[in-house]
This record gives sequence, structure tokens and C-alpha cells, in this order.
Amino acid sequence: MVSRVIPVDNFDLVIFGGTGDLARRKILPGLFRRYHSGQMPADARIIGAARSDMDRKGYQAEVKKALEEFVPKDARSEKTVNGFLDGIDYVTIDAMGDGGWKELSTMLRKDVVRAFYFSVAPSLFGPLAERLHGHSCAGPSCRIVVEKPFGRDLESAKALNKTLRDHFDESQIYRIDHYLGKETVQNLMAVRFGNMLFEPLWNAQYVDHVQITVAESVGVDGRGAYYDKSGAMRDMMQNHLMQLLCLTAMEPPSRFDPDAVRDEKLKVIRALEPVTPEHIVRGQYVSPEAGASYLEQVEDPESITESYIAMELAISNWRWAGVPFYLRTGKRLKARYSEIAVVFKDAPHSIFGQAAGRHRNVLTIRLQPNEGMDLFVTIKEPGPGGMRLVDVPLDMTFADALGPEAEDVPDAYERLIMDVIRGNQTLFMRGDEVEAAWAWTDPLIEGWTERGDRPYTYDSGSTGPEEAAMLLHKEGRRWREIRP
Ligand code: BG6
Repeated sequence: MVSRVIPVDNFDLVIFGGTGDLARRKILPGLFRRYHSGQMPADARIIGAARSDMDRKGYQAEVKKALEEFVPKDARSEKTVNGFLDGIDYVTIDAMGDGGWKELSTMLRKDVVRAFYFSVAPSLFGPLAERLHGHSCAGPSCRIVVEKPFGRDLESAKALNKTLRDHFDESQIYRIDHYLGKETVQNLMAVRFGNMLFEPLWNAQYVDHVQITVAESVGVDGRGAYYDKSGAMRDMMQNHLMQLLCLTAMEPPSRFDPDAVRDEKLKVIRALEPVTPEHIVRGQYVSPEAGASYLEQVEDPESITESYIAMELAISNWRWAGVPFYLRTGKRLKARYSEIAVVFKDAPHSIFGQAAGRHRNVLTIRLQPNEGMDLFVTIKEPGPGGMRLVDVPLDMTFADALGPEAEDVPDAYERLIMDVIRGNQTLFMRGDEVEAAWAWTDPLIEGWTERGDRPYTYDSGSTGPEEAAMLLHKEGRRWREIRP
């Protein structure tokens, strides 16, 4: 395979919150990998901006530590680390005052792409935006990047959008949902819209149902305070799973361009039916190990926040009328396993009789681990003994099909940050999409909060609460296996 690295334009990227956890774990290691691959121009500059009083050397030492911790040894060399560090700068900044802004404005170059990453609490978005303009750091061509959580309900999301739009045009705002940066998620679009094979079958006439699973084996360990205010609905369902649902269910956009794609995703969210309580199952994990149950890891021992949620959704449009979409996500499950499975209907008539059993084609798109796709087809079991049918996967593990280079899949953040520099918003959420997702989410959360519904319990290491199985029992459906 030939290398597919296409260098991006020269840039200055300022990371507000440059000493924070996200910068250390994801943003800086991601940028380093792009530098190492040759995608970043040699004189691109990354400027950390934070409250800590530090000089350039001090920050470079911090960045070096982060790379040592989060980039595997075989993916870095002394030469590339030093080269990367040469492009690192730092400014001590006061988001609520004037300190550091003059220095920042003199550091920024003209004639290169200028991007500001707001890796800070949303309450600082407004003050930062004001000062960026007040100190002539921001102009009409700069870009800003913001992280989830983008609000905690419709009202707060609207307020955040307003704050940002008071200072920037929507075309300058890059709202990250890192699931959109995952390789397989983009492949879903390639598979759907680059092949003739699937799209004609991708509708209520041929699809029985769709399952979207994002299972995590980790718990809320160490993040209990944040997580308990969010729960699986706000933390994962409203954003990551909703995005996967949109890409699976949307109509073909007329072009692969940011607004054409986002218009189609928005239509899916707007076509979602309200979900009634009997179509939602929420859970909290319990463990025999001391301190390892959800309620022991959060402050409120009576908390009714869910660490697991499963739901059946209906999309009211011609393509999907009558096709259930089952979505589930949770912490402390059996394995870290995520997939989208499109389960096709039975053949209209079986010529092989009852004994041959029931067989269904399933297309699975695996996000993690081991990114790839399987198309399960029914074949004859080899050997004598009559016509026995068996379902086998046509395995499309990308690394096997495309060679070793496909194993070196960029992390979602790497790809998304490079898209910011390229000025491509296709894989970022538009303000109206975020608001539509909250408008759909809010009544559900309000419903169970008002009713005081307590989540079911499930064992750590299991597949979630048993009650979730009941969502699918109609018509002989069942959840797909969560595979370690
Ligand atoms: C984050 C959530 O957005 O996504 C976390 O806040 C979750 O709770 C994480 O663990 C999952 O991301 P990934 O890429 O590891 O599946």
C-alpha cells in the first residue's frame, strides 16, 4: 500500500487548557503522531495556554512527559520528539482577565491557519471568545474547537451556541464528537454510499432491525463526580450513539460535504419518535468487590443515575417505518466492544423446510476492538448429511484486507484535528444537530427523574441488566453477543 499521508497547511494551534488531562492524553500525543507521520508541516506551532506560571522550556518538558506516557516507544524516536518539541510554545493566560493576551497576540503568525482549541470548562467559552477578539487574536478565518459535553440539556446547549455564535460564525466552530473520527464510522459512509450492493437493501422492506452497541469494560472509577451528573444518557447516548444512529439511518447526501451530510443527520434526529418508558431500560453496576459498585464510586449513595442504558427507537419516515433501532451502552460490561449490526429479514420462503432453521443475513460494522466488518451469509454446511445450513461471516477485517498499514489507524483525535486545519467540518457537529439531539433527550431524562425511576442493577462483567433482553424478545429477536 502506498502512504496516504497528505500534508496539511501550516498552522498555529493554541490549546486553552494546554496542561489539562485531555491535552496530555489525546491532543498532544495525537498531534505528535501526525508530526511523526510527516503530515504536519515542520514549522507548525502548538501553543499551550493555561493558568500555570511556566515558561516555554517548562511546557516542553511537560509535553515530553505526556508523549512518553501516552505514545508507545516504538511510535516515537528522539529525533521526532525533539523536532516536535521545537514547535511547542507556551503562554500563561488569564481567561477572566488581561494577563497573557498581549503575549499571545504577538506570538501568532499571519498567513497561517489559526485555530483555538477550547479544552476548558464551558463556562470559560464566553470569556475566552471575548478576549480572543478584544486582543485581535481571532479573525474571520480562525477556527475554534470545542469539546463535549456541549450543554447538559437543550437550554444550556442553546446558551452555549449563542455565546459562541456571538463571536464566531458557525463555519468557524468545530464541535468534536470523537466517535465521528473513528475509522469504521467513516467507513460506514463509504460502505453505504460507495457500493451498489447495500443501499438498495437498506430500508424497511429488507431490514428487520438494527442494533448499536457501545460496551465498555471500565467503570466510572475516578470520574464519579462528573459522571453521576451525566449518566449514560448524557455521556454517551445523546452524542456518540446518536451520531452512529444518524450515519446508519440517514438518506444519501447529495455530496460528501459538511452541510449536505449534516442536513441528512439532522433529519434523522428530527424524525425520532418520543420514547415511552417501557422502551427504555436503565441500569447501575454492582460488584461483590468492596468499593467497585457504582453507588460506592459516586458521592450520592442514593443516586438514580444510570451507568447503562438500552432503548428501542423508532424513526418516523418512509425508509424506516416499523424498523426498530435498539441502542445500548454501559460501563463495567463484559468487554470493550462496539458495533453496529444491521439484521436483515428472513428470506420470504424457505425451500429447505423447517429443519433448516432460521437464518438471517447480518452486516456488522465493528468499531472496536479490531475494526472491520462482517457480512454473515447462509451457506451449506460442508460434508455429507444433507442440506444443513450454517451462517458464516465474510470477514472484512481492514488490517487483513489492506495490509499492515491499515493497522496503523490514526486515533480519532488525530484525524479530527487535521480536519480542523484543513477546514473540513464534515465530521463535526453543527449547532442545530446538537440542539435537536437535546430536544429529543430532555423529555426522557425529565420523565425518569420526575418518576424517580431507580435503575435496575447488573453485575460488573455481565452484559447489562436482564430486563434489557425483554426489549427485544418480540419476534424472536435478541441482543447480539458482547464479545471479549
Ligand atoms: C467519552 C465518555 O466521551 O467517551 C466516556 O465521556 C467514555 O465516559 C468514552 O468512556 C468512550 O470513548 P472510546 O473512544 O474509548 O470508546
